[in-house]
Amino acid sequence: MSKNEQNWGPNTRLVRAGLHRSQFEETSEAMYLTSGYVYQSAEEAEAAFVNDGSRYVYGRFGNPTITLFEERLAALEGAEACKGVASGMAAVFASIACQVRAGDRLVAPRALFGSCTYILNDLMSRFGVACDFVDGTDLAQWEQALSKPAKAVFVETPSNPSLELVDLKAVAGLCKKAGARLIVDNVFATPLFQKPLQLGADIVVYSATKHIDGQGRCLGGAVLGSKEFIAGELAPFLRHTGPALSPFNAWTLAKGLETLALRVERQAASALSLAHLLEGHVKIASVRHPGLASHPQHELAKRQMSGFGTMLGIEIKGGQAAAFRFLNALEMIDISNNLGDAKSLITHPATTTHQRLTPEDKQRQGIAPGLLRLSVGLEDEKDLKADLMRGLAAV
Ligand SMILES: Cc1ncc(COP(=O)(O)O)c(C=O)c1O
Repeated sequence: MSKNEQNWGPNTRLVRAGLHRSQFEETSEAMYLTSGYVYQSAEEAEAAFVNDGSRYVYGRFGNPTITLFEERLAALEGAEACKGVASGMAAVFASIACQVRAGDRLVAPRALFGSCTYILNDLMSRFGVACDFVDGTDLAQWEQALSKPAKAVFVETPSNPSLELVDLKAVAGLCKKAGARLIVDNVFATPLFQKPLQLGADIVVYSATKHIDGQGRCLGGAVLGSKEFIAGELAPFLRHTGPALSPFNAWTLAKGLETLALRVERQAASALSLAHLLEGHVKIASVRHPGLASHPQHELAKRQMSGFGTMLGIEIKGGQAAAFRFLNALEMIDISNNLGDAKSLITHPATTTHQRLTPEDKQRQGIAPGLLRLSVGLEDEKDLKADLMRGLAAV
């Protein structure tokens, strides 16, 4: 960033950071769809490989359109460096796998997206890396788990789908003592409403598929952190294992960032208003949203988030059958397991995203048979209310 760019506000960063115009002086960012690069001489090729990072050499290592996305997201996050990858799960996996060795120990809360649990529990153990799970809302459990050394701690806050929060400042302090790096999956909070690095985290990961694209068009992911970590540990891992982001997707995501604040602020306002509307309805057992005073960690949400997000948990009375009746009666909100989209999307986590969990784990994570996860989109609030009331009438 130039001197002036460092003073830019977040909205300016979202539309202008990372813009390096080509010789054609285009207004909109150019898209470089190329897998390789050419050299004017054999000596130039040799120099490019000696002075690693001095220029683009191959699509798996870097691309100008991917750099645009990385620089724009890093500018918003306030991170020294960023690497774009093919999906959110590629970001989660690489952020962990690039730094662990057999014999290392990880710690994580139980409330996680199903694939994150798979990586931490099923996959890491195959390589001799153990993961201890705690109740992420209970600081005493964190203190105990981090009273012994650990290599890294991985958290989602708010978590998918139970919207549980982890006290990032407190856990970051415990991580320092345990010698562990704190990795935060910030998908539910969005880069707008929560700044984990400012709260003491070391690494932030995103599924850019969600709010960053925000229009359901492509997959992508990102890992952000210090230059030392990104260049020294993550970049070599990505280069040799190959979860590269497509330049086309990087362009789509960079353009998605331009409207991120407008979209997410509107969606979050609607989500809070719908949470208030639904709370206390006779056919609803509970509504979960960090912005509701009834959320057990509402005070923490107010402390560590500048907005409460676009996601709601709605537990319908009557279990799975009632939840399915609700879903099947909807006429506008789509049944879909994606989230963060301009279109409102709803899913039944117990039978979709978290289907693999045992009944005990579902219970421990608060994934009740009647729980629905609603991702609030950009539709008019009156139309969303009408559709939700249609669903409730069918229960
Ligand atoms: C919290 C969280 N992390 C990671 C992912 C994975 O993202 P992707 O689908 O882009 O791989 C998801 C997807 O739903 C998610 O909700």
